[in-house]
Amino acid sequence: MTMDETALIDAARRAARHAHAPYSRFAVGAAVLLTDGTVVTGANFENASYGLTLCAETVALGTVSAQGRLRDVAAIAVIGGAMDQDGAPTGSSLVSPCGRCRQIINEAAQMSGTDLPVLCGAAEGDAVRRYTLSELLPDAFGPRDLGFA
Ligand code: THU
Repeated sequence: MTMDETALIDAARRAARHAHAPYSRFAVGAAVLLTDGTVVTGANFENASYGLTLCAETVALGTVSAQGRLRDVAAIAVIGGAMDQDGAPTGSSLVSPCGRCRQIINEAAQMSGTDLPVLCGAAEGDAVRRYTLSELLPDAFGPRDLGFA
């Protein structure tokens, strides 16, 4: 793993500590790297009406969009794991984005004109799996189909 990847995964790990996940007790953190080196993070935000839960990647990319930076996304990292008693994610299983998040990442991918690297890490350990968004969501429908991007 390169240092930049390590830093992005570590940012996702720190973000996971802010997960609001009392129902699943599964904490997820996402870290989005922008082209100028800025890192924007998010954590899963569950809701007592369970189906309204927002995933970590969605929270992070929603923040990026609200900052007007959707075209500047360069990469995203995600980690997650079952919470320990202090709320920290645990375990060495790699987490990859759910289907809805893949579609949301695609919005940033097409708006930024980049087949975005998606780094899937674990709460603990050095393992990382590197994908590009098109590997996770081939032939995606996106802004391009509507004449944007
Ligand atoms: N979760 C994410 O935050 N990102 C994903 O890509 C997969 C799932 C969250 C949603 C829910 O709060 C918890 O993980 C268990 O599904």
